[in-house]
Amino acid sequence: MKIILIGFMGSGKSTVAKELSLRLKLPLIEMDQLVLDRTKTKSMTELFTQKGESLLRETEIIIAQEYALTNNIIISTGGGVVQNKNILDSLKSDGGKIFFLNASFDKIETRLRGDHSRPLFENRKEAEALYQFRAPLYLKYADHAIDVGEKTAQEIAEEIVNYGL
Ligand code: S3P
Repeated sequence: MKIILIGFMGSGKSTVAKELSLRLKLPLIEMDQLVLDRTKTKSMTELFTQKGESLLRETEIIIAQEYALTNNIIISTGGGVVQNKNILDSLKSDGGKIFFLNASFDKIETRLRGDHSRPLFENRKEAEALYQFRAPLYLKYADHAIDVGEKTAQEIAEEIVNYGL
């Protein structure tokens, strides 16, 4: 079993991934954290400003390739992975199932207000344009899209488990 969560920043991937990891007793991979570890940076802000976004993207590809054949795992991705088909292809190989957490931009904006840990969410207009650009990509790559709405992480995790893995 291999569950991959995709979705825009603030859609709840990390929280749902933790819930799934607890329920299914499977290890959890946080791609953002692995990227920080590998690039020896403390935050995405530091990575973007001191090393550049391209290092994030290159490292995401490497990590996805490394985990291509790993099974029995939950993978929480960074919101930008859908901009590189190779990442999704690697993660999906060996039976990975991709779940898209579909949250409205309004909901995301409310959640991320006052949170400055995401360089690509610093400018509202640009973030909304990125959201619109990526929306069809998340849908395209997902095996199953989940409407986040007002659902709790527990409810979303249950929906994923019930979907049939
Ligand atoms: C990004 C999303 C972030 C992180 C980085 C870039 C993006 O991950 O990878 O700040 O391009 O959408 P989360 O989706 O976990 O916030």
